[in-house]
Amino acid sequence: MDKLLDFTGKTVLITGAAQGFGALLAEELAARGANLVLGDIKTEPLQALAKKLKANGAKVIAQNCNVAVEADGKAMVDAAMDQFGQLDIAVNNAGIGQALELTEEVSDKDFESQWRVNVMGVQYGMRHQLKAMKTKGSGVILNVSSMAGLGAAPRLAAYSAAKHAVIGLSKTAAVENAALNIRVNAICPFFALTPLVTESALSAAGVEQAKATLSRNAPIRRCAEPIEIVNAMILLLSPGNTYMTGLAIAVDGGVSAI
Ligand SMILES: NC(=O)c1ccc[n+]([C@@H]2O[C@H](COP(=O)([O-])OP(=O)(O)OC[C@H]3O[C@@H](n4cnc5c(N)ncnc54)[C@H](O)[C@@H]3O)[C@@H](O)[C@H]2O)c1
Repeated sequence: MDKLLDFTGKTVLITGAAQGFGALLAEELAARGANLVLGDIKTEPLQALAKKLKANGAKVIAQNCNVAVEADGKAMVDAAMDQFGQLDIAVNNAGIGQALELTEEVSDKDFESQWRVNVMGVQYGMRHQLKAMKTKGSGVILNVSSMAGLGAAPRLAAYSAAKHAVIGLSKTAAVENAALNIRVNAICPFFALTPLVTESALSAAGVEQAKATLSRNAPIRRCAEPIEIVNAMILLLSPGNTYMTGLAIAVDGGVSAI
């Protein structure tokens, strides 16, 4: 295997791994030799994924993890240390969408859930991941933000605010830890048709309509395939990618070039 894509023996923690980007990333990294610590609030699909990966020879721990609960974030790191003796890579991927509302209509409840899951979920995760990585003297963290974290996201104000916060957290942690051999980046995908999109109000008029509407403003004229986002994640996590840190990388079919 090309060493840029070789994750053999690396311990990789992924939150929100039961479906969507997280599940696909787990499959791709398992195929490249990683040991995995997977967490999600959806127990059944998470355990089914773990079973499939183990049957293919991967070493996998899968446990219930609500990222909004600090003890669950810590338990993921503890599991990596107990089972594999180290944590090399953490992907804080778990996230939730919000109801489509104009800014003045966004409820406190929506803001609070965005804050608890999409912001504190990343902070709780990093709090424990960074401690483990500092002990080891190296590490890589990738936080999943969004194009909504880089600019406006009409009718998604709370989600946009939360994803902007993820970038602030990522950049700050990157600068604090750059000299300690720990890289921290954020990835900012444009729309991809994972359940986050297909099962949300964005797809109220059907998935085909959503595809057409969501891709209208993208120079590439289509939404991303989930694997296109996951491939970019792998490039950011690559063992050969040692000088990129503190970045919020758009994977957006040209949207941010306009
Ligand atoms: N799909 C897109 O178009 C898109 C675009 C930009 C950013 N993102 C971001 O990518 C990440 C992954 O999203 P996805 O598209 O794969 O969505 P998805 O809904 O398919 O997967 C998200 C996973 O996170 C899990 N999750 C939700 N709340 C959780 C919690 N409190 N604790 C633990 N797990 C939890 C869900 O159960 C699910 O398995 C999210 O952070 C999302 O905001 C997605």
